[in-house]
Formats: sequence, structure tokens, C-alpha cells
Amino acid sequence: MRVFTPFVINGMRLRNRFVRSATAEGLAAPDGSVTDRLEAAMKALAVGGVGLVISGHAYVEKRGQAGLGQMGVHLPAMEAGVARLARCVHAHGGRFVVQLAHAGCRADPALSGEPAVGPSAPEGADGGACQAMTAEDLARLEAAFAAAAALCRDAGADGVQIHAAHGYGISQFLSPRTNRRQGAYGGSLENRARLLLEIVGSIRGLVGRDFPLLVKINSEDFLEGGMDAAESRRVVAWLETAGVDAVELSGGTLDSGRLSPVRPGRFPLPEGEAWYREAARAVKAAGLGIPLALVGGVRSLETAEELVASGTADLLALSRPLIREPGLVARWQSGDRTPSACLSDNLCFVPLRRGEGVSCLTEARRKRRDGREADGRA
Ligand SMILES: Cc1cc2nc3c(=O)[nH]c(=O)nc-3n(C[C@H](O)[C@H](O)[C@H](O)COP(=O)(O)O)c2cc1C
Repeated sequence: MRVFTPFVINGMRLRNRFVRSATAEGLAAPDGSVTDRLEAAMKALAVGGVGLVISGHAYVEKRGQAGLGQMGVHLPAMEAGVARLARCVHAHGGRFVVQLAHAGCRADPALSGEPAVGPSAPEGADGGACQAMTAEDLARLEAAFAAAAALCRDAGADGVQIHAAHGYGISQFLSPRTNRRQGAYGGSLENRARLLLEIVGSIRGLVGRDFPLLVKINSEDFLEGGMDAAESRRVVAWLETAGVDAVELSGGTLDSGRLSPVRPGRFPLPEGEAWYREAARAVKAAGLGIPLALVGGVRSLETAEELVASGTADLLALSRPLIREPGLVARWQSGDRTPSACLSDNLCFVPLRRGEGVSCLTEARRKRRDGREADGRA
């Protein structure tokens, strides 16, 4: 099958087309450093056959921290932990990319100890909760992304991915709904995309052309006044010109309700799978010359294969199916083609928000039930 054939992104050779899409693990220490549990989670994905393991969003500066247990790549002291993760993924045949992030107005001041900063203060009653970034803040942010990318390269990671999706910091800049700035970083699409493109430039400036650089971006925000599909396609084309090596297409923000990036609830297979496939086709039809990864609602091997065989996507990225079953890809490859058992119930967020680390409560319940039944039989 095509999905089990290797693929190369700017010199990074992947054993297959399966990507673990960035998924907050919530398993880092309070200072953002790597723990044994985080290492074990990365190992399980590599052992489980994933070709490219992308870390959960890692903050490039402390005031961009979004959640409990989030990994940080904001200080030189974090390099040793990233090296541990890279080594353990490599030891099991996978490649490792760190997702670099800044939560912008979605940062949590209770965790970061600093007020949140973003494109502009939100309008309305709680407008004061997020401050508009100054020119100095923007320069600091761009330097922080570049420094974090260099840290990851020095640690032995195979590449980095800029998180520009889902209504977090950079996505807030891209969206006219959340970016109300005047001046060079607000208004026209060129201006709203300026921060992202400058970050790409600053990373390239520091790490050179050979280090794989990916971007995860919304195919559209699915929000009144948000970034739309045509705008997303233009930004993707600019990213290619700016020297990005691959894009991962997602969609929606935390405000998009049922069209959020983590659409809740079961959907029919295969008709309901791969929510952004039309967007991927449109991006390819517009002449995209760099690899494209598709995330969102892929649950069956047949759909994954069809998307790759038809040229709709080069890589398939999965998140919740791998929370439920880190060994899903290896199982498929071994011949058991049963689709992912993920119900998309989003119960994985419950332990994550409690600070216990992400896990599938539904799978844990199933195991307990099976255990009780086995005890009953014994
Ligand atoms: C618990 C959880 C944490 C997530 N954390 C991230 C993240 O850190 N960065 C990111 O880009 N997307 C994150 N996502 C979104 C996923 O990468 C993915 O885009 C989304 O879940 C849709 O894919 P799926 O249907 O395979 O789950 C997260 C999703 C879940 C369920």
C-alpha cells in the first residue's frame, strides 16, 4: 500500500506516510522540561509504527504557555530533554519534529505569570485580558521562534513545525476576526501573514535551508469574519515561496463549535472522514509544490490509502486515534485493518485539563470492563 511507502521531506526520510499530529500531552514538568512519562509517550508512538512523530505544542516563550504540563523550548536548559525525545523516537525507527507555538491571547497568565499578548486586545467586556503586542514584543517573538528551532536542531530533532492553526497566537494574527491591528501586522492578508512569514525567515536565517521546517495551518477558520479558504490558499502559497518544506492542513478554532479542530462526536466511515480533503485538493490544484499533510477525522486505513493514492495528500496525520491506540499504524501494517476505535468523544481532554496528562478515558473504561468480565469468567 502507498501509505506504507517511505517519503522524504527536505532530506528527512520517513518510513511511511503516517504522522502523529501535534497533540498536547500535558506530561512535561511545571518548568516545561521533559519527564519520563513524556518520553514513554513518544516511545509508544514510534514503537507503534508512526513515521513522523510531532510533539505537542511547545512554547517558545513562557508567556505563550497555554496549558498545564506543556513542554517548553524557551530556554537552553530544555535542550537535553528534547534530545531524549529525539533519541527515543529514532531508536524505534521514527522521525521527530517539535511543534513550536505561542498561544497569544489564549495563553494562561496563571501558568506563565505574565499577561497574555496577541495581535490586539479582544473587543468586549474582557478586552483587557489580552494586550496588543508591541513592535518589541514581535521582534522578541520572532527571535524566540528562531532560537527554539536552533535548540531543536542542536538537540537532534529532525525538524520543527510552526503552529499557525486553531486560533492560537499566529492563527490569531492571520484572522481578521482576532487581528484588529493597524499598521504593518494588521489589515490586509499580506499584513496579517507578515508575522508568520517573518518567523519563517528568522528560523531559516538561524538554522539554514537544510533543516526541515513545517507549518500547520487552517484551511479555514469556520467562523464569521475569520480566515477563509481563499485566504488560506494564498498564505500556503506564500509559505512555499518563503522556503517552508511541508504544510499540514487543519481547520477551525476553539470558537468554531462543531467545526472546531477536534470535531466532537462519531461520524460515518468512510463518508464522514478527512474533513479538509476538498481544501487539500484545492491547494494541490492551485499548484502547491511542497508536500501536504492532512489532519482531521481520518479513522480508517482505506481512507488513508485512498487520499495518498489519489494524490490528495502526501501524508496522513492523526491525533485522537493515537491517543486511544498508539500502536494503530503497526496494527494496520500487520494486517488488522479494523478502523480506529476512537469515538471522538473528546474525553481525552478531561485528564489533560486536570494536569494528569492526556489519555483516552473511553479506552481505560473498556479495559476495566474487559478485566471485570475476565475476572467473572475465571
Ligand atoms: C488532546 C488534544 C490535544 C491537541 N493538541 C494539539 C497541539 O498541541 N497542537 C496542534 O496543532 N493540534 C493539537 N490538537 C489537534 C490535533 O492535532 C488534530 O488537529 C485534531 O485532533 C483533529 O485530528 P483527529 O481527528 O485525528 O483527532 C490536539 C487535539 C487533542 C485531541
